[in-house]
Amino acid sequence: MSTFNIVTLPGDGIGPDIVREACKVLNKIGELYGHKFNITEKRMGGIAIDMDGTSLPQDTIDACLKSDAVLLGAVGGPKWDHLPNGDRPEKGLLGIRGALKLYANLRPAVLFKQLQHTSPLKPEIIGEGLDILVVRELTGGMYFGEKANSPAYDTTKPDAWASDLEKYSVYEIERILKTGFEAAQKRDHRLCCVHKANVLESSRLWRAVFERVKKDYPDVETSEMYVDNAAMQLVRNPRQFDVIVTSNIFGDILTDEASQVAGSIGMLASASLGAGTLGLYEPIHGSAPDIAGKNLANPIATILSLPLMFRYSLGLMKEADAIDKAINDVLDAGYRTGDIFTPGLNDESKKVGTKEMGDLIVKALKKI
Ligand code: IPM
Ligand code: MG
Repeated sequence: MSTFNIVTLPGDGIGPDIVREACKVLNKIGELYGHKFNITEKRMGGIAIDMDGTSLPQDTIDACLKSDAVLLGAVGGPKWDHLPNGDRPEKGLLGIRGALKLYANLRPAVLFKQLQHTSPLKPEIIGEGLDILVVRELTGGMYFGEKANSPAYDTTKPDAWASDLEKYSVYEIERILKTGFEAAQKRDHRLCCVHKANVLESSRLWRAVFERVKKDYPDVETSEMYVDNAAMQLVRNPRQFDVIVTSNIFGDILTDEASQVAGSIGMLASASLGAGTLGLYEPIHGSAPDIAGKNLANPIATILSLPLMFRYSLGLMKEADAIDKAINDVLDAGYRTGDIFTPGLNDESKKVGTKEMGDLIVKALKKI
């Protein structure tokens, strides 16, 4: 029997609704396979601003650092958008990524075969489905670069200014490229480096490091693309991509696009990893405050964070497959939350809420 320490950060909006369902799945896996998951809930985001006076309490950072893996729900909401002290729920998220040194963000954009019609792309473009992995650098670039503004942050003064520095070191670029290449070796052996080297100095460094690092991976077919073209290619012919590696800001934008191409944003999970096995796992969707607490949110993206956690942080491969299979079985049986329900195509009697979807997946779980 193995024991794992998991910290949950349910966060705001629908975060607590969906993390609750994922914890049910975690506990069921524990029962089936004889593992013990010690789950500790901590606060981050808006809830932490309300209760602790900061979006990221030190106690949360400490607990995460000591854990085997972290499961995050979602953070943010209009309530915390304009706080006088400048704190924001999103600051907590960036803070935890930085504090845990999670430099690699893996965002799979997968279209489930049962949900092919949910992609906005024409069937002839989407073909047999979609399986792209975007590897986004997560602790560098303009997100973490020096921020500055003129003393008078005054919108009526035309010469007032603000800036965010896009700065990357060879070390930062090389380690994320390696993450991408290693991922490609486990997939279809194709990698595309996305940058804007026709304009940006930092991208020219990305390209130069890419030219060097790719020689160490002769089994991976490589390409490169300017980010604007990549944005277009993702809707024109998304199946040309296997692994995309890119910077923090480009990855942020391209993964939102890729998630839409892959159909419902309620179905996609992500992993944020550092040098060791500790990782943070989360659905890629937001906190959807309008449907919070209404049993409407789709918990599948959060439940899908668990197979990623099992594979990358806990080394539980069979357990990961068991969850993937349970989700597929529930989708095959026709159950849908509102966001993936198509009137006329899906059975009205199988339209379910957050809690029911969680229960169905728990019930479908079998030891494999
Ligand atoms: C994401 C989000 C975050 C980001 C925000 C909430 C800070 O958009 O995880 O993609 O920009 O990284
Ligand atoms: Mg984003």
